[in-house]
Amino acid sequence: MTTAAPSVHARELSAAPDWWRQAVVYQVYPRSFADSNGDGLGDIPGITSRVPYLAELGVDAIWLSPFYPSALADGGYDVADYRDVDPRLGTLADMDELIAQLHAHGIRVVVDIVPNHTSNDHAWFQEALAAGRGSAARERYIFREGTGPDGAEPPTDWQSVFGGPAWERVADGQWYFHNFDVSQPDLNWANPEVRADFVKTLRFWSDRGVDGFRIDVAHMLTKDLSEPLPSAAELAAMPQDGTHPLLDRDDVHEVYAEWRAVFNSYDPPRTAVAEAWVHPSRVPLYASIESLGQSFNFDLLEADFDAGQFRRIVADNLALAAQSGSSTTWVLSNHDVVRHATRYGLPDAERAADGRPTLKHGNEWLLSGGTAPVLDAERGGRRARAAALFVLGLPGSAYLYQGEELGLHEVAEIPDAARQDPTYFRSPGVDIGRDGCRVPLPWSASGTAFGFGGGGAHLPQPEWFTTYAVDRQDGDPASTLSLYRHALDLRHELQTAEELEWLDLGRDDVVAFARPDGWTVVTNFGTEPVQLPAGEVLLSSAPVESGTLPGEASAWLRV
Ligand code: GLC
Repeated sequence: MTTAAPSVHARELSAAPDWWRQAVVYQVYPRSFADSNGDGLGDIPGITSRVPYLAELGVDAIWLSPFYPSALADGGYDVADYRDVDPRLGTLADMDELIAQLHAHGIRVVVDIVPNHTSNDHAWFQEALAAGRGSAARERYIFREGTGPDGAEPPTDWQSVFGGPAWERVADGQWYFHNFDVSQPDLNWANPEVRADFVKTLRFWSDRGVDGFRIDVAHMLTKDLSEPLPSAAELAAMPQDGTHPLLDRDDVHEVYAEWRAVFNSYDPPRTAVAEAWVHPSRVPLYASIESLGQSFNFDLLEADFDAGQFRRIVADNLALAAQSGSSTTWVLSNHDVVRHATRYGLPDAERAADGRPTLKHGNEWLLSGGTAPVLDAERGGRRARAAALFVLGLPGSAYLYQGEELGLHEVAEIPDAARQDPTYFRSPGVDIGRDGCRVPLPWSASGTAFGFGGGGAHLPQPEWFTTYAVDRQDGDPASTLSLYRHALDLRHELQTAEELEWLDLGRDDVVAFARPDGWTVVTNFGTEPVQLPAGEVLLSSAPVESGTLPGEASAWLRV
């Protein structure tokens, strides 16, 4: 394999086994990052071609959302083969080359593992369908007889996470359980063959040089489906304290203890981060070093741009990290939520019934890009820059989502016919779905698909992408891209112990803290300017004049 000489921006690959504790991890959604062959889908060679961009940005690691063979019924989270690459995205050799290039540029690689369910195209599920009831092949999944005359009713009235029933009937009359889309049958984690196969997958990628894993819905794998099964109402009333039949069960950590032994058999040990939507008091179980070692903290995804909320979230999560001994993670956006520049530009906190931010205002969809009166795109962008400097100043690791370094907004104006997300189809149409944050990136202000690739883009890109394109921002010191580059560079220099001391600047809408060696972070969540403490301003999200930080802005100082 040929590995080109790394660009001037390359850092050395950190050899420290705890490289992950305060890493900046950049999430790549492969289908929407860069398309090398013009088929409209981003691919692995496309990512490789952009490694210099990632190096210049200054990230420590990338996390790749699934790139495995998949019918793309759920954006690749429906995996047909865990130990291969989707032919539309490349080959295993392409992955080897990507890993080599990233490592040569000092960037580590985290891949996504989806253990709760496979695709219905997975060889195991096809075998289960063919083998019939009572077979060993069906034991790898969750098959049950139905209820009612002829078993024509589902075993229970449970709803799937994406909407609609959680059971699907197969030709011979049995039903299988799927927490998510009908094309994502849940695996049976009580089955030793299932457990052994995932160990094989973890070793497969670790042997190829992958440095860590992001574990999809890590709190859902193990289940207690002993009869009689509870109703949906009974299920909803059960405490989630480790004993719930479907969620956050204590016994899931037996799986992760086995994985931990695998991770630790490598040098440096492979890392893992749990996507676990659990009660905060249960997060340390996933983050403990006996289990996955780190767990996402998603609190900022649900918070308003509000000083009190941000301060409380930081305090709570640092306390949880102290309990587990892990470092915490800060996440403003990912492939499942409305981009934060847009969330922060909405007139008031728009919330769906479950409390998650939504793009729906009553019955009206909110449009992005500043074209609709309801969204203040400029304000959203200003607050997003301030939030980025706040988060990047914190102890712990920061997970960035592709495009946030461009200040990108959610794309709401996708025609219904072009939508792909199963949450849109299964709701049906009530939830707009997650396509709006998955639109292919604008690399250039002009040209085919804004430089994403020589063909089209698999989700339509709006005209306003021109303003956000990489080549527009490159070299402009006032751009959001320059802000992120500068921040990551400085953070590398300044980041030391995982410590924070709160500072009181006498204003409820201002949050300030000091890190070791005089690194001070001030965020003004309000609209009135605030006087900064005396010191050297290293970086700010908006111009600082005579030591005054404007509203909705952050500054880093050396005090
Ligand atoms: C996780 C992923 C999401 C996916 C779901 C089912 O929440 O982040 O994108 O749809 O799991 O795999």
